Amino acid sequence: MGAGMRPRIGIIGAGVMGTTHGKSIHFCLKHGLVDGELIGLAEADPERRDSYAAAAGLSFVTDDPYELIAHPGINTVYICTPTAYHRELALAVCAAGKALFCEKPLAFNAGDASSMRDAAAAAGITHQVGLVMRFSPVVTVTRELLRDASMGRPMTAVMVDDQYFPIQGHYRSTWRGDVNLVGAGTLLEHAIHDVDILVSYFGRLRRVYGVTRHFFGKEGVEDLSSATLEFASGAVVSHTSIWHNLLHRGSSRRMLVVCEDGQLQWQDNDWAAPIDIDANAAAEKQEISSADVIERHIELAGLGDERLRASVRAEYAGQDYLLEDYAFLRAVSDGREAWPGFDVAVYAHEVVDAIYRSAREGRAVEMA
Ligand SMILES: NC(=O)c1ccc[n+]([C@@H]2O[C@H](COP(=O)([O-])OP(=O)(O)OC[C@H]3O[C@@H](n4cnc5c(N)ncnc54)[C@H](O)[C@@H]3O)[C@@H](O)[C@H]2O)c1
Repeated sequence: MGAGMRPRIGIIGAGVMGTTHGKSIHFCLKHGLVDGELIGLAEADPERRDSYAAAAGLSFVTDDPYELIAHPGINTVYICTPTAYHRELALAVCAAGKALFCEKPLAFNAGDASSMRDAAAAAGITHQVGLVMRFSPVVTVTRELLRDASMGRPMTAVMVDDQYFPIQGHYRSTWRGDVNLVGAGTLLEHAIHDVDILVSYFGRLRRVYGVTRHFFGKEGVEDLSSATLEFASGAVVSHTSIWHNLLHRGSSRRMLVVCEDGQLQWQDNDWAAPIDIDANAAAEKQEISSADVIERHIELAGLGDERLRASVRAEYAGQDYLLEDYAFLRAVSDGREAWPGFDVAVYAHEVVDAIYRSAREGRAVEMA
């Protein structure tokens, strides 16, 4: 990795994620957590482009993402477009030798994601993928609890994620209903986060069996994915991902993990849900409160800066993205590798691909 640099940032795509990252970056810069500058935006939609540029006080605005990538004053690029454009844009950023944050999924499949990883590695750039659940306190604290020897070996989990079909409501765009732009449905677009979480809990996969359904009739865009995941450790996990039509429900995750000597569960609040624990090591059932989940995470993540700690403790307002952007921009400033890098995403893509293949072929698929 090269020398550190002061991030001079350009964002491609001013939708939900481009706006979210813009706000987090602004927080980091305003509070002096990172020394840098938000310089430019590339956005295809003129109204969005103009209102974002005015709100963020940007000095460079374009409709052409390649112009932004080539801008000599920008050394750090965020890709926040629909997934179909990630690969070509990422390869251009790598060729320009600039630091790169790319939203998940990296691409439509593991082959394309691998080519992005390889290009980033060859370019020697700092790169990070938007697997934001890696910054969730409840996900992180659960992982730590599973590592406690008194729980025994993790045997199984049941994980369910659900949200309404994201072409309505607070999603102000419809590209997730078009296979040419989204690549596939809820498993690739939403549950790649879950696959990555489960890999971080249970390790490498041995075999998968998956089934997908298209209740809403969007060709190539499944709205139900259900999979049995066999891990090399011997653990067997059930994972289900759903796009339904319950517009009043926010995006939600439910988790139950059973180990030899204990089990734990949480639901709905995938930032800081309270965790219920029932284990041989304690005389009675325990609950780790939401506030304690956050405090444990602050310690585990080594969040030193008091302004960052205070914002993480506040009522949830996208803090996982703040921690994600802070981690990336600190890595760029220090000239070191960021985490999670593209290599982490490639394995999640391989698992997703195997589940889709299993669903297509109607049989279990072995993983190397
Ligand atoms: N990490 C997460 O939690 C998370 C959450 C939501 C979305 N995502 C991912 O982020 C990406 C963006 O999703 P979103 O919800 O922000 O979508 P969005 O539709 O809200 O925003 C995408 C924006 O990109 C613009 N755009 C499209 N093509 C462009 C181009 N070639 N050049 C410049 N601008 C272009 C669109 O006009 C739109 O404003 C997707 O890959 C999605 O999977 C990640």
